[in-house]
Amino acid sequence: MDTIAIIGGTGPQGKGLGYRFAKAGHRVVLGSRSKERAAAAAEALRLRISGSGSLEGADNVKAAEIADLVVVAVPYDGHDALLAELGDHLAGKVVVNCVNPLGFDKAGPYGLDLGPSSAAEKAQALAPEAHVVGAFHHLSAVSLISGADLLDHEDVLVCGDDATAKAKVLELAATVTGKPGIDAGPLRLARHLEPLTAVLISINKRYKVRSGIAISGLTGVPNR
Ligand SMILES: NC(=O)c1ccc[n+]([C@@H]2O[C@H](COP(=O)([O-])OP(=O)(O)OC[C@H]3O[C@@H](n4cnc5c(N)ncnc54)[C@H](OP(=O)(O)O)[C@@H]3O)[C@@H](O)[C@H]2O)c1
Repeated sequence: MDTIAIIGGTGPQGKGLGYRFAKAGHRVVLGSRSKERAAAAAEALRLRISGSGSLEGADNVKAAEIADLVVVAVPYDGHDALLAELGDHLAGKVVVNCVNPLGFDKAGPYGLDLGPSSAAEKAQALAPEAHVVGAFHHLSAVSLISGADLLDHEDVLVCGDDATAKAKVLELAATVTGKPGIDAGPLRLARHLEPLTAVLISINKRYKVRSGIAISGLTGVPNR
């Protein structure tokens, strides 16, 4: 079992993912800009896990330092500055980015124009020695923290350039959905996965649901 840090682990998405990973037996360290906030979030979630996993809190830097795998779950606004600060502490680690750079206006949600880039690619540029993988963009925090045993009606789409790091995250996805994630291709595909969340939010509003992604037509294992 791995030690998994969640940067921004006091927010709904970080807590939801942390809960799922700890429930599956991992040691989870919720990170925050405030170690007190992190400790309080971990304490509240600890009551909900009954498996062999564990939950603790730390400041973001310490959390990144002690983890084998680091999940970045902060708003896009703070993303670049935080990655620049954490860069050295992420060297050699698998870094999972689930950040969706979205804007909202009168017409609803939309993907921000980052040019030929994405939050995940920016993270890779800011932490060049990390192995950045994009994943968990489309799972809602509300579903993650729900009492559902597994979110087996959803798929986790995973993109990345490092095959070993991607394989690790494809496997980690099974702690949430009960099946490996789906290899969506190289890291640059994050340019399409991240803004796709705007479509899900728009559907949610229209149909009053919590929509997710499920891919049909897959057989066998992917060519990598
Ligand atoms: N919510 C969802 O359903 C969902 C689903 C899929 C993906 N996502 C993505 O996951 C990320 C986190 O979502 P969320 O809803 O959990 O966000 P959030 O509650 O707005 O933020 C998460 C945590 O990030 C930290 N944070 C906030 N602003 C920051 C800044 N400027 N610099 C550094 N840290 C900052 C805060 O922790 P501290 O104050 O304790 O440091 C906060 O608790 C977002 O990028 C979002 O697009 C969310």
